[in-house]
Amino acid sequence: MTSDLPNSLAARIPRHVAVIMDGNGRWAKQRLQPRAFGHQAGVRSARRIVRACYERGVEVLTLFAFSQENWQRPLTEVELLIRLFVQTLKREIKSLHKNRVRIRFIGNHHDFPEALRTMMADGEALTAANDGLTLVVAVGYGGQWDIAQAAQSLCRDGLAITPEAIEARLAVADLPHPDLLIRTGGEKRLSNFLMWQLAYTELYLVETLWPDFDATAFDGALAWYAGRQRRFGRVPEAG
Ligand code: IPE
Ligand code: IPE
Ligand code: MG
Repeated sequence: MTSDLPNSLAARIPRHVAVIMDGNGRWAKQRLQPRAFGHQAGVRSARRIVRACYERGVEVLTLFAFSQENWQRPLTEVELLIRLFVQTLKREIKSLHKNRVRIRFIGNHHDFPEALRTMMADGEALTAANDGLTLVVAVGYGGQWDIAQAAQSLCRDGLAITPEAIEARLAVADLPHPDLLIRTGGEKRLSNFLMWQLAYTELYLVETLWPDFDATAFDGALAWYAGRQRRFGRVPEAG
């Protein structure tokens, strides 16, 4: 359903949008509130963007929820983030399912509590047959880990390490690479997100803090993307 966007825009909707949801802490600080307050607002923002994606006909949305490096934050913040993740998953899974969203989790989940791993597996199983938006949640994820685990699995099987072979064993091997990366919060870096898959992604880096990034801001990103000329190393097409 792309009816509320001009035709020219609707025609150039990215198939896959990836988002580094950054700036929750600073958003809370601006309001003289603890970081937890910002993370709670961040969840509400994520919910808005998921909805915007399925309303606009985006096929895949990947959200960076927790990086491998985020384990190095103070234990209280790590625990809060995990708790928020569990609560949100519990609360939202039914409504995601109802809206035909297929959910996937990527990352190094080796050290995650068993109960959480089961919850993620259950959410994936429940929504596996859905034909709407594919929502990929990167949690405990690192781009370098992803490439390394793909290479390790090829080594284990005694196979040659080629770009195609690595590609086939990445955490989201069956999905198209992101067309558009949105990073909120003003930083101009990838912070070990989808290092391999972002090779030719259009980068939209904005100052807006994640809790302030609403559907209008998202449409701004889509409009910007619609104006990009993607060349993939080639020369522009004639005409
Ligand atoms: C992003 O917001 C959320 C996570 C990394 C989990 P931050 O917590 O990084 O917020 P800032 O960057 O400190 O403002
Ligand atoms: C990136 O944000 C990770 C997520 C949004 C989950 P960070 O706040 O962790 O990134 P750095 O540390 O500023 O690079
Ligand atoms: Mg940050």
